[in-house]
Amino acid sequence: MSTRVTILAVDDANLFAPWFREPATWAAWRAFLAALFALKMTNDQFAIFKECTGRSAPPQQPATEAWLVCGRRAGKSFILALCAVYLACFFEYRRHLAPGERGTVLIIATNSKQARVIVRYIRALLTHIPMLTKLMERETADAFDLSNSVTIEVHPASAKTTRGYVVVAALLDEVAFFPTDDRVSGPDPDKDFQRQRLMQHILQTGGYYRQRRWL
Ligand SMILES: Nc1ncnc2c1ncn2[C@@H]1O[C@H](COP(=O)(O)OP(=O)(O)O)[C@@H](O)[C@H]1O
Ligand SMILES: [Mg+2]
Repeated sequence: MSTRVTILAVDDANLFAPWFREPATWAAWRAFLAALFALKMTNDQFAIFKECTGRSAPPQQPATEAWLVCGRRAGKSFILALCAVYLACFFEYRRHLAPGERGTVLIIATNSKQARVIVRYIRALLTHIPMLTKLMERETADAFDLSNSVTIEVHPASAKTTRGYVVVAALLDEVAFFPTDDRVSGPDPDKDFQRQRLMQHILQTGGYYRQRRWL
C-alpha cells in the first residue's frame, strides 16, 4: 500500500473520516498528527502547534519519538490506535525482515483493561475500512496479523513484554501510570529501562533512526 496516504486521511471517507465526524473537536489532535508526521499544517493547525510546543517553526521531519501530556478522555487511546494502524498498514518494513519474520507494531497499555480498549479501537479501524480489512490475515485476543508481514500487538505493561519481537514501532499508552518494580530504586528506572529496550529493538530493525521513515 502506498506510503503517500498520510495520517491526515482523517478526511477521506474511505479511510478514517467516519471517526472524525465533528472536525472541530479534533482540531488539536489533527495539529498533533500533522506535527508528528511533519505534514503541511493549515494556519489554524500551526497556531495550535505554536501554542502547545512554544516552537516557532513546523517540524521538517517526522518525529522519531514523541511524548504527550494529556488529560482523561482526551482521545489518547484512540489516537494511539489510529497511529498504530497507520504505521502498520501504510509503511513497508519487509526489507528489514528476514523471510518469515514479522515486524511488530507493539502497543503497551497500563493494564489489561486499557489494552482491551485499544484492541477494540484497532479492530474497529481494521474491520470498518474495507481497504484495511483486506490486509487482515489473522486476529487473536491481543494481536492482528496483516498480510504485509506486520503484526499489531497490544500488551499490558510488564517487564517481559518486549522480549523476542522485531519492533518496528512502539506506542505506550499512559506510560506515566506503568507499574514499576519496587526492588529498583531511583526515579522511574523501570520506565526508562523499558524505553531504552524498546529503542534498542527499533534500532535493530533499521527503524526510523536509520530510515527516517517511521516513529
Ligand atoms: N477530540 C475528540 N472529539 C470527539 N470525541 C473524542 C475526542 N477525543 C476523544 N473522543 C472520544 O472520547 C472517548 C474516549 O477516547 P479515548 O481515546 O479512549 O480517551 P483516553 O484514552 O484519553 O481516555 C472515545 O469515544 C473517543 O472517540
Ligand atoms: Mg485511554
